Amino acid sequence: MDDKDLIHLGIIMDGNGRWASARNLPRTAGHLEGLKALRKCILGSISNNIKFLSLYAFSTENWKRPDQEVKYLLNLVATKLPAELKFYNTNGIRILVRGDSSNIPPKVAAAIKKTEDATENNSTITVIICFNYGGQNEIARAVNEIIEEKIQAPITPEIIRKHIQYPFVPPVDMIVRSAGEKRLSNFLLWESAYSEFGFYDKLFPEWNEDFIKVIKNDFQKRTRKFGGLGK
Ligand code: IPE
Ligand code: IPE
Ligand code: MG
Repeated sequence: MDDKDLIHLGIIMDGNGRWASARNLPRTAGHLEGLKALRKCILGSISNNIKFLSLYAFSTENWKRPDQEVKYLLNLVATKLPAELKFYNTNGIRILVRGDSSNIPPKVAAAIKKTEDATENNSTITVIICFNYGGQNEIARAVNEIIEEKIQAPITPEIIRKHIQYPFVPPVDMIVRSAGEKRLSNFLLWESAYSEFGFYDKLFPEWNEDFIKVIKNDFQKRTRKFGGLGK
C-alpha cells in the first residue's frame, strides 16, 4: 500500500430531503432512497478495495429536526440495520456504530449491538455507521475517559488518539459530501487532520457503485504531503 491507496473513505450523506422534495415526496422517502444508495456505496467500496467506510447517518445536531423525522430516522436504524445481516455476511462486511450511545433509545442500542456482534468476524470491509455522532462530542468523550483514568499531564495527541472510539481504525484518507454543501457539519474532526476532501453536487440517493470509482479517481490525482515535501 502507498499514499495513493484509499484505505478509509468517509461519506457525508446529504441531500435526501432535497431528492424527495424535487419529486413531491415526503422527506422520509428520500431517507429510504438514501438507504438504497448506501448499499450501492458499500458494494462500490468493496470493489475499489476500500477497507474502511465511514458513513455519517445521524449527527448530534440532527435532534433539532422535527420529532417525526427524528423518530423515523431512529426507527430506520432499529429496523433496517439488523435486517441486512445476510447482505453483510455474504459480502464480508463488518458493521461498527460510532457515536454517543448514552442517549439513544434501548431499541436502537439493541439493534446496533446485535448487528455489531453478528458481523464481528467479517473482514472484507469495515463499515462504520456514524450515528448520534459529532466530532466535538467524540473528542469530549475521549477527554472524559482520560480524566476518569487519572492520566497525568502532559496529555499528548497520541494519548487522545488512543481514547477516541475505535483507535484501530486508521485516519480517514478522503471525506466526500453529496448535495453541494461544502462543510464538515461536525464529522470526523479529529480523524480528518490530513484527509483530502471532495464535494459533489449529486444528491446522495443518486450515488452508486460507479460514483465510488469517480471518487477514487479524484483521490488518486491528489498529492499528499503530510507536512513534508511530497514525493
Ligand atoms: C441527509 O439528508 C440525511 C441526514 C442528515 C439524516 P438530509 O435529510 O440532510 O437532506 P437535505 O439536506 O434536507 O436535502
Ligand atoms: C450532516 O448533514 C449530517 C449527516 C449527513 C448525518 P446535515 O444535513 O444535518 O448538515 P447541515 O445541517 O446541512 O450542516
Ligand atoms: Mg442536509
